[in-house]
Amino acid sequence: MPLLPWSEKFELGIPSVDHEHRELVDLINDLHDRLGRTPAKEEVMGFLEEINARIHAHFALEEKVMRGMRYTELDAHKHDHEELLDGIHDIMDRTEAGDFVDLEAELGPQLKAWFGNHFATKDARLHHFMEEQGIDEESFVREHPDA
Ligand SMILES: [Fe+2]
Ligand SMILES: [Fe+2]
Repeated sequence: MPLLPWSEKFELGIPSVDHEHRELVDLINDLHDRLGRTPAKEEVMGFLEEINARIHAHFALEEKVMRGMRYTELDAHKHDHEELLDGIHDIMDRTEAGDFVDLEAELGPQLKAWFGNHFATKDARLHHFMEEQGIDEESFVREHPDA
């Protein structure tokens, strides 16, 4: 059972965005699979740091696009991103302090609830808006390097 099984709830109906989100989810699961059954604290920290970095990079790209096009929902969207990162940071702090964190019981459901909600609402609105405006994420970032 993957840490974060892909769910229809994650789909927002734009193939390129769904694909990008799926890659993120697959990556989290692959990294998690590579942890042994009873990983050492350093391995768990390494895993958490890596998923934090990948999720952070995904969010940073979206925020860059939102800033660049002066998207009115930027603050609320960014706040939502920060909530998930805070949740991951909290788990990292506890792991670092030597507290046992059951990743399957705690991180998995947290990611699932968060992704399920965020993709279907804020990301759906953002990406449908971009689609309406004919804005493609990759070319937008290329054309607005300083956003
Ligand atoms: Fe996203
Ligand atoms: Fe987002």
